[in-house]
Amino acid sequence: MGMLQSSQSYNLPPTPDYHSKKPQPQPSEPALTDLQIEMIRSSWEKVIPNKKHHGELLFHKLFEIAPNLKDLFPFGSDFSSPLFTAHALNVMNAVDFAVKNLDKPDVLVPKLNELGQTHAVFELTVREFQYVGESLIWVLATGLGDSFHTKIEDSLVRCLWYNH
Ligand code: HEM
Repeated sequence: MGMLQSSQSYNLPPTPDYHSKKPQPQPSEPALTDLQIEMIRSSWEKVIPNKKHHGELLFHKLFEIAPNLKDLFPFGSDFSSPLFTAHALNVMNAVDFAVKNLDKPDVLVPKLNELGQTHAVFELTVREFQYVGESLIWVLATGLGDSFHTKIEDSLVRCLWYNH
């Protein structure tokens, strides 16, 4: 039995409007500065030790804002299924890999392409990835509380927009 049973048992706060913060790509500047990479890493380090909990929370938030996505998963609405926890952990491990390799595109890009290929069958659009990104940022904001400064949020929004 997992820590979370259903989204109803959680009083999830609303998701802020991240779409209005989409940065305009500037070809001359790097997608992320060293400082932004550092901020993403230090915020992620606080969430990853409890990755099962935060991964499950991410999916509760995702299914709250995009309930139809449940139909794409083998566990459906059964959040006590080991398959639910398994995919939540898969996502957290994949993000962990990405965070560790943000400054190594030669390592990161092939892995992301591989992930894209295994997920191509689900015919996901940019919109679904926006939902996942929103849920991820929401988990970080929830997990980090007051220490989730605007600058960290900006770095993450920037990172997610540039990398899909
Ligand atoms: C809403 C979008 C997504 C859907 C519908 C989806 C669906 C699935 C399904 C059905 C599987 C196979 C069975 C399972 O593990 O449950 C899977 C595997 C996996 N997913 Fe996702 N997924 C989504 C988003 C993501 C994201 C955002 C990540 C990583 C950041 C991710 C990482 C993985 C990994 C690492 C695996 C296992 C290895 C593989 O099959 O590539 N998924 N996903």
